[in-house]
Amino acid sequence: KELMGSEQRVAAETHVLTLPLPFQGHINPMLQFSKRLASKGLKVTLLSFTDKEWTKAAEHGSVNVQIIFDDTLFAEITDQEDTVYINNLYATVKRRLPEVVAKHGECGYPISCLVYDSLMPWALDIATELGLLGATLFTQSLAVSNIYYEVHQGKLKVPVEKTAAAVEGMPPLEIHDLPTFLSDLESYPLLLKLSAGQFSNIGEADWVFFNTFNSLEDEVLNLMARQCAIKPVGPTIPSMYTDKRVKDDKDYGLSLFKPDEESCMKWLDSREPCSVVYVSFGSLSILGERQMEEIACGLKMSCHYFLWVVRETEKEKFPSRFLDETSEKGLVVTWCPQLEVLAHKSVGCFMTHCGWNSTLEALSMGVPMVAMPQWADQTTNAKFVADVWRVGVRVKVDEEGIVTGKEIELRIREVMEEETAIEIRKNSEKWEKLAKEAVDEDGSSDKNIQEFVAKLICNST
Ligand code: UDX
Repeated sequence: KELMGSEQRVAAETHVLTLPLPFQGHINPMLQFSKRLASKGLKVTLLSFTDKEWTKAAEHGSVNVQIIFDDTLFAEITDQEDTVYINNLYATVKRRLPEVVAKHGECGYPISCLVYDSLMPWALDIATELGLLGATLFTQSLAVSNIYYEVHQGKLKVPVEKTAAAVEGMPPLEIHDLPTFLSDLESYPLLLKLSAGQFSNIGEADWVFFNTFNSLEDEVLNLMARQCAIKPVGPTIPSMYTDKRVKDDKDYGLSLFKPDEESCMKWLDSREPCSVVYVSFGSLSILGERQMEEIACGLKMSCHYFLWVVRETEKEKFPSRFLDETSEKGLVVTWCPQLEVLAHKSVGCFMTHCGWNSTLEALSMGVPMVAMPQWADQTTNAKFVADVWRVGVRVKVDEEGIVTGKEIELRIREVMEEETAIEIRKNSEKWEKLAKEAVDEDGSSDKNIQEFVAKLICNST
């Protein structure tokens, strides 16, 4: 709600720090949440661990950006092991946060609260020591978090080896529907520890926010809400996609990659409505050479137009002859403005790895999905996309762990052409409407944000 006079002044003096993990899939939701808080009148500073070009701007729209990068700790960031990396994040926050808080206090903008990524629960302890309130933001789904919570509580034993796992509040889950960390302990011991560790001090956080919305995950929400006061604040998509009055907020996030904006949008403009398959596997997934070949083959056989994001680091595996064979049909770029692409009328479906952001973005834009999960929480997200929300189909993996070109062709046809496509499109439109309602003024997520802001303002007076 609009603030009046003195309230507005107090809000502008109420200063919140936000702390994302330095990965694209974590920066985007935290930045958008920061923008929502700023749009309600608060002063917001996002602390960045990375010193990429964008952070040099020192602000991003309504949000200030402050780098807490420490080059002695992060000099060889890509070569470091996971544990060392996390320890370095901890050491940086432990050392820099007191300085940051003191400095803003001296400048007349004291900090009242730290909003931190749930994968850094120790940030709450540091904030508490400094006398700040602490709010955690989960950037995965409630369903996935519920599974990790069961692991944390010892209710779900790992490794899960049996075919099906019964998790309260969830549909029956087969092993391939569970987050991959639960079945492959050898490959991801630290990531499982971190995922379950998100709940280690949850009872002490002043607020527990989730990038989801009430109606999307109502059953799990009701279940988990019995144990802690969860507040959905998503989907954290830029307000211009939900609020017709917002014109200048098209920037999705602080991009760690350089988007090929002009060529993508121009190319999409020249295509028919709903004629293009958009293909992307997010910022982290690594595909094998054979899998890349099969995707190319499937796209070609589907005979649809396609826009395919192949990150710079993945390019050497790309079957280059494929481009000559399909130059009429497709465009391959190293990064794109995904939100704009999904909102474009020419896009007919999204072949996605089902990262939580990509899933929520497609859902919020009403774009049907071909789910091709790779690892982590993506497998569970894919299960919900195909069987719970029914906004897409999921590809089958063969005995060699490959999704064949034929399978890809068939699934694309299923969401683009066949009888099933009508039903999927109808469901997608339903969820698009509900997602936008949640973040619109006085929607369920917006109310949770309003409440948070009101409490912080009240604390400041
Ligand atoms: C990861 C995990 O996979 C995800 O499941 C987890 O919940 C968060 O971290 P990532 O794999 O990168 O993230 O996928 P996703 O969550 O989909 O985030 C990618 C982000 O990059 C999205 O917001 C998407 O809009 C953006 N993006 C992707 C672009 O802007 N351009 C692109 O070309 C590709």
